[in-house]
Amino acid sequence: MTEAERALPQDRLTDNIRLFAADVAAQNPVHKKFMDNALVRISGDEIRHLDAYIGFCLRKGLDIPYLAECYLTIVSDTLREQVYFQKNGRYRHARFDEVASDVYFNPDYMRHYMYGLALTSFLWPNHLAMFSFFRKTLPVAEHGRYLEIGSGHGYYLMTAALHSAYDSFLGVDISETSVAMTRELVAHYMKDRAAKPLEVQCLDFLAADLPEKSFDAVVMGEVLEHVERPELFLRRIRDIAKDGAYIYVTTCINAPAVDHIYLFETVKQLEEMFAASGLAVREKLICPYEGKTLEQSVAQRLAINVACVLGKV
Ligand SMILES: C[S@@+](CC[C@H](N)C(=O)[O-])C[C@H]1O[C@@H](n2cnc3c(N)ncnc32)[C@H](O)[C@@H]1O
Repeated sequence: MTEAERALPQDRLTDNIRLFAADVAAQNPVHKKFMDNALVRISGDEIRHLDAYIGFCLRKGLDIPYLAECYLTIVSDTLREQVYFQKNGRYRHARFDEVASDVYFNPDYMRHYMYGLALTSFLWPNHLAMFSFFRKTLPVAEHGRYLEIGSGHGYYLMTAALHSAYDSFLGVDISETSVAMTRELVAHYMKDRAAKPLEVQCLDFLAADLPEKSFDAVVMGEVLEHVERPELFLRRIRDIAKDGAYIYVTTCINAPAVDHIYLFETVKQLEEMFAASGLAVREKLICPYEGKTLEQSVAQRLAINVACVLGKV
């Protein structure tokens, strides 16, 4: 029995979480220790959220082995790309058309990817920290229009719809699969709530016809590293956000993944891009690679996650 298992208060976990963890370990024994540690670390509140998410997936007709497979798709793809990155010093791909058909426009892969990514929001310390930062900084009493770019699995958009007072919500995502997943997730979690206008459109954000200074909140999680010209996304966000809008952006530094095509090599480089786009950092969260300090992560070119609340200059 590992140290983590001895420390694991099994009765804290729900049956579905235990089954999920057991299936992950059965499919990928090397990942068992990481999973055990993750389940020791997460709070009772996060356990309830993870259990509810698994419950949502099961009610949709998915099963635990499929969810474990989705989660492990991200684990193994990320590991493979890390090896490539450490050897070559760059991401494997640099153009959107090199990855789009295999990822965003491949429904089977995209479903694996998005269910897996949603599950990492509860289990990977950096993803969990960024989600908590979002919950902490999301204004709960502000009104107006909320926009989310690249809603993916939909968990952030659903959270905003459930916990904020914004009056209307718009999600835009380039992938039909993400759009369908976001719609389903929101419909499920919001079913007992008074309906607010909420729309999810399949669009390239840069091609979307959105009026200037029209949004009170703009959220874009994990998109900048997926596009060829991230500065265009930031400038466009600046244009469509109202003065004083809540702007929440996350991205990553030296963090390879199958579809990461824009390499940020330092936090400074990212902050310079924000500044050149007319955006100032109001609050930030920097998450070094798990088990390493920021200095070690920078020196060893290990993945760093960054979440920022930005304001228009
Ligand atoms: C890695 S997922 C992020 C999901 C979620 N926001 C999160 O933080 O976990 C990136 C999402 O951005 C979408 N995306 C990529 N390029 C886009 C673009 N040009 N316009 C809109 N969405 C885009 C992808 O289809 C995918 O759903």
